[in-house]
Amino acid sequence: MISRDTIEEIRNRIDIIDVISDFLTLKKSGSNYKALSPFANEKTPSFFVVPAKGIFKDFSSGKGGDAITFVMEHEKMGYTEALRYLAKKYGVDIKEERQTEEGKAEQSEREGLYILMNFAKEYYRKQLTGSEEGISIGLSYFRERGFNDRTIEKFELGYALEGWENFTKEAITKGYNKELLEKTGLIVKKDDGSTYDRFRGRVIFPVHNISGKVIAFGARMLGKDKNQPKYINSPETDIYHKSDVLYGLYQAKNAIRQHDVCYLVEGYTDVISLHQSDVSNVVASSGTALTESQIRVIRRFTENVTVLFDGDSAGIKAALRGIDMILKGGMNVRVVLFPDGEDPDSYSRKVGTTEFQKFLKDHTQDFVSFKAGLYASEAGGDPIRKAESIKEIISSISQIPDAVKRSVYIQETSSLLKIAEPVLLSELNKILIQERRKAEKDKPREQHPEESIPVVPEEIEPNKLDVQGMVQLQERETIRLLLNYADKAVEEHKLTEFIMQELDDVTFTNPVYKQIYEAFKDGAIQGNVTDSNSFLKSSSAEVKNTVTELITARYDTSKHWNSKNIFFSKESEIVNELALSNVLRLKFRMVQKMMEENLQKIKEAERGGSWEQLEQTLIDQTGLKDAERELAKLLGIVVAK
Ligand code: GTP
Ligand code: MN
Repeated sequence: MISRDTIEEIRNRIDIIDVISDFLTLKKSGSNYKALSPFANEKTPSFFVVPAKGIFKDFSSGKGGDAITFVMEHEKMGYTEALRYLAKKYGVDIKEERQTEEGKAEQSEREGLYILMNFAKEYYRKQLTGSEEGISIGLSYFRERGFNDRTIEKFELGYALEGWENFTKEAITKGYNKELLEKTGLIVKKDDGSTYDRFRGRVIFPVHNISGKVIAFGARMLGKDKNQPKYINSPETDIYHKSDVLYGLYQAKNAIRQHDVCYLVEGYTDVISLHQSDVSNVVASSGTALTESQIRVIRRFTENVTVLFDGDSAGIKAALRGIDMILKGGMNVRVVLFPDGEDPDSYSRKVGTTEFQKFLKDHTQDFVSFKAGLYASEAGGDPIRKAESIKEIISSISQIPDAVKRSVYIQETSSLLKIAEPVLLSELNKILIQERRKAEKDKPREQHPEESIPVVPEEIEPNKLDVQGMVQLQERETIRLLLNYADKAVEEHKLTEFIMQELDDVTFTNPVYKQIYEAFKDGAIQGNVTDSNSFLKSSSAEVKNTVTELITARYDTSKHWNSKNIFFSKESEIVNELALSNVLRLKFRMVQKMMEENLQKIKEAERGGSWEQLEQTLIDQTGLKDAERELAKLLGIVVAK
């Protein structure tokens, strides 16, 4: 039997996107992913993965579950077999339940490192509360910083005694060998072969991995000795890869999932103070610049990161760097800036829990307004500085992998800075093209780079109508075809039936066209073909006028067909084609109208909505964009990416 610890470890390492991508090609759709169902034969994707929740759902077959279930279903494996497969994939050593008695000597080397680190953690904890020096120096330091007992327990804080080999002696007595002590970095070897404790006279912050095992320590000095570093940290080991680790993630992961947002701070003490203010969805990059793999780790729990940084220039610089990294990782980023001279730790202690939480709520802004505000105050009225600040913002936007999101931020920038969208778009495209070129250059030559270069959205037709106008134009054409060719054959049906079938889910927006359309529909349901002349007898003046106009209207043949070199003498000979293209065009315009309406919703959600709202609207937009592209393809129209 595989041990509980191992199963937990496997579960913690699993990235569902990564697991499923070994079998399927996933396509991003909003913050989720979709694919063609592997369990059914289908043409449109109905298989969805929700990475933030670690689950998949296949609407074709009804199957769903976590990554382990997926492997079981897809590979026809049993539970244990699937676990073994995943353990292998993620390099987890499988510990069998009955092996636990076999003793330390036979444990794998990694296991040995974990055990020693755990021993060290317990040792430092004991010193903090059980030794005179620990209490008078270490504990009183934590008390000064306002850390209560619960916090000290939760983060397993400790104290390392003054002196060169207190820890070494204790560990040797307990049977740990020196080689292992060196491997963990808990002791340091000098050139002459002698060794000493790495951490001395410092308070200890254990660093946990996602499953709660201690993998490293940070040790803060207590005095103000200018000749010593403020923190001494564990070196990299087989179990500690600094660039993958976020301080506090183990204590934060459930809260991050629950709130669907992760706060990112700089230091150990910021994380801890936020917990004391009942904000527990927080992690620290621990003084180093945020790395790509740290971002990937956060992404397993949420897509939303809010960066909390000091108001001083170093803090702002760090925040700016972080923002671009996070955007590049495909996540949503917001920012909270603290008053100059304050960091999350000092500020939360200064104002208290309630006030602090309110501050977070009131001062969270998206990165565009953050950057805009930053540069606005700096640039003053200087147009050159203003241009620079716009470039800065666009450069951040260019990091976002998702085109829909990019366009939303472009719109926001436009309204915030009062700069026309096309200007911003061309700036954005300049950057995107540059980056593509650079990427192409670095990559061994492949295909035609031109194809992948993003384009400035162009009008599909040089038409001055807005989307609503376009929709109505197409509605009008539908009615005109119905009035003139109701019983002509189209695709083995009468035109009326064909159109009713195709436009089953479409609601006409123009009330007059709608009324006429409904009359045709009623007729079709009763099996009659509606006679155009019947409208002239009984209906309203508006309907009468419209019908008269459309019965006599000549079709402008030049518009759609010249480009395809199709010539004809009589319109009635091409009703088939006209009906097909009309149906598609109407849908195409409807989709564009819905996109425009949804864009408003996105803006609203951006401004004041919840993450869920924003996410949903962005997913909708992606779906609509896909539909638009699909229809455009059928119509032979090129639409903007
Ligand atoms: P306080 O000054 O006690 O509030 O500590 P802090 O944890 O807030 O530290 P600070 O804001 O100065 O730095 C942020 C993070 O950078 C720390 O939590 C550490 O992870 C890291 N750091 C700071 N100073 C050092 C140092 O001297 N050496 C190393 N290796 N890391 C450091
Ligand atoms: Mn601090």
